[in-house]
Amino acid sequence: MTLKMEDIARIVKRAGTQAADDTGNEPEPEMIQPINWPVTSTVGPGLEGAIACESKVGYVNGSKGWLVYRGYDVFELSANANYEEVCYLLLHGELPTEAQLYAFNKKLSNYRYVNGTLRVLMGFPVEKMNPMAALRLGTNLLRQEFSYMDIDIPNDEMSYDKIIAMDDDSFAMETAPCGDERATYEFRQHVSRPTRGAAWGDQLHDATGIEAAYHMIAGVPTLAAAISRVRQGHMPIEPDPHLSFSANFLYMLTGYRPSDFEERIMDICLTLHADHGMNASTFAAMVVASTLSDVYFSVGSGIAALNGPLHGGANQRVLQMLEEIREFGDVAQWLDDRLMAKEKIMGFGHRVYKAYDPRARVLAPLADVLSTNHEGGRSLLRVARQLEKEMIHRFGESKKIFPNVDFYSGIVYTCLGIPKDMFTAVFAVARVSGWTARVLEYLKNNRIFRPRAMYTGEFGKEYIPIAERQRRDTIQ
Ligand code: CMC
Repeated sequence: MTLKMEDIARIVKRAGTQAADDTGNEPEPEMIQPINWPVTSTVGPGLEGAIACESKVGYVNGSKGWLVYRGYDVFELSANANYEEVCYLLLHGELPTEAQLYAFNKKLSNYRYVNGTLRVLMGFPVEKMNPMAALRLGTNLLRQEFSYMDIDIPNDEMSYDKIIAMDDDSFAMETAPCGDERATYEFRQHVSRPTRGAAWGDQLHDATGIEAAYHMIAGVPTLAAAISRVRQGHMPIEPDPHLSFSANFLYMLTGYRPSDFEERIMDICLTLHADHGMNASTFAAMVVASTLSDVYFSVGSGIAALNGPLHGGANQRVLQMLEEIREFGDVAQWLDDRLMAKEKIMGFGHRVYKAYDPRARVLAPLADVLSTNHEGGRSLLRVARQLEKEMIHRFGESKKIFPNVDFYSGIVYTCLGIPKDMFTAVFAVARVSGWTARVLEYLKNNRIFRPRAMYTGEFGKEYIPIAERQRRDTIQ
């Protein structure tokens, strides 16, 4: 069967109709009005239930299983918009006009080239690093490429013999010690050389603004793709200025230009992962921004938080799990063993959704159509469907546990030729738009985050000199 673009839109719309049919009668939770500060809310550990700010960026309705970006249902956006439009919408609050989209795409296209950053990044053992660690490192280097924020050396001190000996192949290092007399070498901030070509530090910007958000949205995918290539023993691939965001990302990752069909599915995947309320990584990004740090540090923190298996790291583990079950053969028995061992099943459950995750509703049928011509994907999907049935049978009604976004995304990515160890990085690539949109929104009315902890320790203890302390074998 040959599928057409309209078929993909139809699949997404059908998922939306199904969501509305299943949960349309659930009550609307009270999280949609402006707040009169200070607000009273019931708070659980990990700040569960706490209201930290107002936002117009997006809304998650956990009991209905609905997800909204800037007023648009995510099913509507996935069926109709491309990812560039979604990024613009999240950042600016409105869908772009043709002229706005043209200008935005031009910016993204320029910022997609991060050769200076890649040159430095490849000096690290990227092939041996966790891809998320490499990606996070890359965001620091992107920051350096882009921003003047570190340059605090007065102009009259800008004599190059005094500051930094730096060429394209070396690390920044002072040619002679200065400052502290005991220092052998002193590393100082990188200072751009105004006469050099296009790479490091030519046109430097404020790292706290919208331009930095554009830079990250466009630059992070290039970094992620390059990291993936190097991990596979290949050279990074330059972006193609004629390709869209999604097509470029797939092209740089896999080395081949995707079909329109694959490009469209990647668009939908990125759209579905773009924003998701005050999740852990978004919160991490916002906490960092609230100190008046900057967009780069915020995104780096988001990447770090996303990496954990309870958050974005689950997608990779889901695929490992499905492969393991395929090998094992008996889904129900495998599940019983895991539950008996009190293990969480990856790709199921959600802090907010107590209904079927809308993103999984879309990703499941996309995995289905994509795996028609992919034997490996097909067999994984068979296992996934069986596991879903077993899990819902056991916990759907009693604990409201359903598949989440990470359950089917890995099968889609596998069919698109994306290596398993890059799944969480693909999630990060998509979430940069949500992180930056929320960070920039929060900064307009900033208040540094500062919750409290309840101290349950002791008071008034007397210092005992080390020789008199009784031996305690807590550290071996
Ligand atoms: N498998 C088995 N039981 C589960 C699962 C699961 N995946 N998730 C929740 N439960 C049970 C849990 O054992 C508990 O049971 P009981 O009340 O008998 O103690 C009950 O459901 C409530 O669980 P919880 O841990 O309090 O739920 P939570 O809201 O704190 O955790 C979660 C949400 C996502 C951390 C959790 O469901 C989980 O660890 N899931 C697996 C990891 C995963 O798929 N993460 C991706 C989340 S979606 C994408 C993202 O956010 O990035």
